[in-house]
Amino acid sequence: MFQGDTTNNELTVHDIKQQPVPNHVAIIMDGNGRWAQKRALPRIAGHHEGMKVVRKITKLANSLGIKVLTLYAFSTENWKRPKTEVDFLMKLPVEYLNTYLPELIEENVQVRVMGNLDALPAHTIQAVEQAIIKTSMNDGLTLNFALNYGSRDEILNAVKHIANDVREGILQDEQINEESFSSYLMTKNIPDPDLLIRTSGEIRLSNFLLWQLAYAEFWFTDVYWPDFREQHLLQAIDDFQKRGRRFGGV
Ligand code: FPP
Repeated sequence: MFQGDTTNNELTVHDIKQQPVPNHVAIIMDGNGRWAQKRALPRIAGHHEGMKVVRKITKLANSLGIKVLTLYAFSTENWKRPKTEVDFLMKLPVEYLNTYLPELIEENVQVRVMGNLDALPAHTIQAVEQAIIKTSMNDGLTLNFALNYGSRDEILNAVKHIANDVREGILQDEQINEESFSSYLMTKNIPDPDLLIRTSGEIRLSNFLLWQLAYAEFWFTDVYWPDFREQHLLQAIDDFQKRGRRFGGV
């Protein structure tokens, strides 16, 4: 079911804070290309507009008291795109952090990144590393970018790492459980997402947080990411608050 009709009853931060907000919200920011296409603009214009939405949604998440906001910024499959688009996407974190890092520091946001960073261009790595260092003492919202991230890859790496640790006697077979397995993932020390949002009308996970989303509530909207507004996030959380989460119980 598609949601996101915000025509009546605008929600406020105050309304939403009357009930527990999700600790961790994960977003698949989709539809940048189609947003641009609809306006006869190059696809990269959609990504650039999407970056501005990241700023707005981060601010709102922080003021709502959400602990972690994970954003799917680049998947391991995105390398298949034309080189000019990939190059642009790799420069976006640099532009974003050059522009907004002072604001993120001011707002007590902690920047984190998950994914295979080694494969990224030096300028991208440098920008995110700087941001991680400069915000490491912050304890407000954790803004977690998934950059060159793929969930199957992450799970396979965890399995290989566990096999190695068992071989070397660091971990015993009987110690392999959900909790210890989670600690081998890139989301180590981050609680699982409570709410997953995907924009642009696509209803799939696209190799995003397959293990971690086991019990998450899913919220889909037809809205393209560059058109995603504060009101949509408030609506998603309002819907989340109305759902009964039973974690397999009754
Ligand atoms: C999917 O839309 C979006 C991406 C692959 C990139 C997402 C990146 C941003 C929103 C900007 C990130 C900002 C920072 C600060 C890193 P699409 O291109 O697949 O859209 P389409 O399905 O309409 O073609």
